[in-house]
Amino acid sequence: MRILGIESSCDECAAAVVEDGRRILSDVVATQIPFHAKYQGVVPEIASRKHTEWVYGVVEKALAEAGVRPAELDGIAVTARPGLVGSLLVGIQFAKGMAYSLGKPLVGVNHILAHLYAPQLEAPVAYPFLGLLVSGGHSIICRVEDFDRIEVLGTTIDDAVGEAFDKVSKYYGFGYPGGAVIDRLAESGDETAFAFPKPSLHKGEHRYDVSYSGLKTATIHQLEQYRKQGAAASPENIAASFRKAAVDILLSRVFRAVEDTGLRTVVAGGGVAANAYLRRVLAARSDLDVRFPPLKLCGDNGAMIAGIGCRYLERGESSGFDLNAAARVPLFRRIGR
Ligand code: KG4
Ligand code: ZN
Repeated sequence: MRILGIESSCDECAAAVVEDGRRILSDVVATQIPFHAKYQGVVPEIASRKHTEWVYGVVEKALAEAGVRPAELDGIAVTARPGLVGSLLVGIQFAKGMAYSLGKPLVGVNHILAHLYAPQLEAPVAYPFLGLLVSGGHSIICRVEDFDRIEVLGTTIDDAVGEAFDKVSKYYGFGYPGGAVIDRLAESGDETAFAFPKPSLHKGEHRYDVSYSGLKTATIHQLEQYRKQGAAASPENIAASFRKAAVDILLSRVFRAVEDTGLRTVVAGGGVAANAYLRRVLAARSDLDVRFPPLKLCGDNGAMIAGIGCRYLERGESSGFDLNAAARVPLFRRIGR
């Protein structure tokens, strides 16, 4: 089964062809980062316009690189939720047009489930496992039952972790997108230079939740203090101390979930899964089977959409032409496609 996957939920315009839900025949990602950099964040209007300009070329390239003609496809998968509605609609309308004109099945997929499917494109991972999905839009710790079923154990009660990296970086003028810049600066900084607060560990139903607004405010406040005192803040030390605090918040919840669930396989995904400190600490847990998909499959891509789409289509599940975009999906309960 050869499936075309189209992804346009945020600032990556991506398309890929995947065979049998596993073998990547092509994977094209066109990033809009330079267009959003001067605003230090993704501007929804610019994102949807760029998707409109690029989607045809990106899909054409994905088909050409795979050596697959449109008529040879067995279906078209597209991200339907969650994401920026204007951006999602571009991919959805394009996928609908292709599916209709080619007479191929269409399947709309959940972006969160697709991220958690991504490691299956590298090597099979046995279900169930613990998923850590961390990006600019998500901070989710979940029990992944199967490709189409997760139980959300915890999520952020305010900012997503990547968003906190981006906002701190923006405030300090480190650069955009902030996560990678802070990570790089942090490598030569002293992580004990500043003691940033971590939210107190939640109890009961919130025991796996994370919160970033306090840490973000404290980090930003630190700069104000330094400026007031006239002392030069060391960007490296700020970055290292902030990175450690931000990632330790996540890790404490992951390790708690490992203890509680007994699951020994942890799969990390999303842009923040590229974080060097996060990877080092998780990889050091030799008692766990920790999987980090390659960077290209951590961030937004079409291959994960095509891969999971194939799983639905081989079960005979597809979407109608009334498929619509949704900005959000409900968390705190089992979620499906
Ligand atoms: O998954 P992604 O490419 O897009 C979505 O947000 O869906 O993730 C982007 C996020 C941004 O917030 C970016 O700052 C963060 O991932 N990020 C990182 C690193 N690389 C990217 N955060 C921490 N450390 C990194 N090395
Ligand atoms: Zn994503």
